[in-house]
Amino acid sequence: MAMQDVESLRREALAAVAAAQDEAALEQARVEWLGRKGPIMEALRGIKDAAPDERRALGLRLNELRDALESALAERQAALRGDALAERLQAEALDVTLPGRPRERGGPHPLQLAQDALVDALHALGFRLAEGPEVESETLNFEALNIPADHPAREMHDTFFVAGHPGYVLRTHTSPVQIRAMRAHAPEPLRVITIGRVYRRDDDVTHSPVFHQMEGLAVGEGIGMHHLKGTLYEFCRAIFGEDVKIRLRPSYFPFTEPSAEVDIGCVFCGGSGCRICKGTGFIEILGSGMVHPHVLREGGYDPAVHTGFAFGAGVERIAMLRYGIDDVRLLFQNDLRLLRQF
Ligand code: PHE
Repeated sequence: MAMQDVESLRREALAAVAAAQDEAALEQARVEWLGRKGPIMEALRGIKDAAPDERRALGLRLNELRDALESALAERQAALRGDALAERLQAEALDVTLPGRPRERGGPHPLQLAQDALVDALHALGFRLAEGPEVESETLNFEALNIPADHPAREMHDTFFVAGHPGYVLRTHTSPVQIRAMRAHAPEPLRVITIGRVYRRDDDVTHSPVFHQMEGLAVGEGIGMHHLKGTLYEFCRAIFGEDVKIRLRPSYFPFTEPSAEVDIGCVFCGGSGCRICKGTGFIEILGSGMVHPHVLREGGYDPAVHTGFAFGAGVERIAMLRYGIDDVRLLFQNDLRLLRQF
């Protein structure tokens, strides 16, 4: 082989190595150029046929070419591996400096806050929590509370009945807990508060078929209307502020006698009259009265010895007045823009 042939062999071989785009192509180039049947090995074998004075130089050149090709292959392989790694690193890159996804922090719902405030206010006045079921017997929801089957008040309650369980209803108010608490304590004096869901079959702009009521009950000897008024006054001051005004209006409930509805001075206009209080300066917040003798007897107390008072209120209404919310639906929509304000 002539020297210039070695030179063109070198150019071709190095070009083939440079052209290999991946490790498989590179391996193919190695076999093709450096393999036992490749041109370089063949040329080395052919040295013996060269002119004696050229053999040494040709051998040196061919050995040098083989070494150069080997290191070109190694270099190219390292480059290809490096590229593959860089590509993988790029594709699988995780930017650990990016800020994480923030977790939303929850908080108590305004209805829950109102319930807690109600329970706290009455707790301070010596009332303890009592409970009753949401599926209640008609007897406790109505009869024991002096609302017989033919009583017109039944209609006002728009009752849900429980299919397949005659005699059971979804309680229409928290008052049946009065009977349960009395039966559990009679003839001991008692002061209890209960709070929870009640159900009525109306559903419109201002009514939801499920809402919450709270109820207070005190029974003992010598309890009078003045105790009721004093309790309600302290209770309203705790919920609506020291300066709250209250007003009792005669009313009617089958389970209390006498009965009174309680208004507070309008928290929106301060009593001067506005759209929300319909110009009266007052807003109704609860129903109350002295426990009816029939109800005391149902609870296991002797009306000749014991008297008591009871009061009940809608929790949604109190939450709306306390937090200045003017649409009851806002309490049920779970709109984060509202909830974040509490
Ligand atoms: N239970 C009555 C209602 O649902 C409220 C009330 C409770 C009235 C206790 C007087 C005494 O309207």
